Amino acid sequence: MDDGGGKGETMQYRTVIRCAELAAIAGVLWLTACDRPHAPAPETSRAPGPTRTYTIGMSQCNLGEPWRVQMNADIRAAAARHPELRVIFKDAQNDTLRQRAHVEEFINARVDLLIISPKEAAPLTEPVARAMEAGIPVIVLDRAVLGDRYTCFIGADNVKIGRAAGEWIKRRLGGKGRVVELKGLMTSIPGQDRHRGFREAIAGTDIEVVFEADMKWLEPEARKEMESALARFPRIDLVYAHNDPGAHGAYLAARAAGREKEMLFVGIDALPHEGVAYVRQGILDATFEYPTGGAEAIETALRILRGETVPKQIVLGSRVYDRSNVDRGGDPLP
Ligand code: FRU
Repeated sequence: MDDGGGKGETMQYRTVIRCAELAAIAGVLWLTACDRPHAPAPETSRAPGPTRTYTIGMSQCNLGEPWRVQMNADIRAAAARHPELRVIFKDAQNDTLRQRAHVEEFINARVDLLIISPKEAAPLTEPVARAMEAGIPVIVLDRAVLGDRYTCFIGADNVKIGRAAGEWIKRRLGGKGRVVELKGLMTSIPGQDRHRGFREAIAGTDIEVVFEADMKWLEPEARKEMESALARFPRIDLVYAHNDPGAHGAYLAARAAGREKEMLFVGIDALPHEGVAYVRQGILDATFEYPTGGAEAIETALRILRGETVPKQIVLGSRVYDRSNVDRGGDPLP
């Protein structure tokens, strides 16, 4: 037995083991380095993986006016750019009870997100809150609900639009005249706000509102109310209607009475194929843009569904179109 030789062999053997250990440790370290989360994975190893799809319920209060048809079209077009989204539309046909039922149906169907453009504020407040309690985020679009139990409100500033209309009217009438105000549904917030802004702007002038009525956003109602105003007042200088269908209804009533040239007509919405076209045709004297917010609603929905925090309120801008600026695309409200 060669102790020395045997010892040498053992040493050699140990050295081999030590080398193998070091190599193993180095290998582990190298692998660990490759596994670090921020190390980019090679392109080929990134499997496409199944994408989650989301169902959005869209509760529209009615589709009777071109503006609401446009809102749905804007939502549909924006959603079509995101294959992971599926939007189910329901039309309440201007019936608050039906719209409440639609919200309940969306809750029971466990949609991933609800968009609602409510007919009226108070009666839709509770159903919206119930959706939130059921864990369904809610985007309220254009007409607000009461309180703050929703995820995000998107719409233009109706007080500002009403005030801008009042300022425009004050300038055109030289601070003096007899005006008819045809109001939008006064149980909806845009109607209340467009009224308030307008009254603030004309306060302290010699502009007198000789006749006011709630035409509920509807052209036939506006026409009927305007017939009453025409029958009662031999001189009217201007009609301020809270939307373009209302202003158009008033124009038709005045034209039927042969009096359309005696007064100016101002509306709100400014759809290219409705209010703006009326200004070009000389039917309306001015219209103020009320954007539908459809595209913004889809962008916001996506952010919510991805878990991002969104602002409680998204305020959209507006423009004024009148005979002086319609050909160059109107002017933004300051
Ligand atoms: C359509 C409409 C628009 C108006 C908006 C207010 O239903 O009446 O004309 O600007 O609703 O919510």
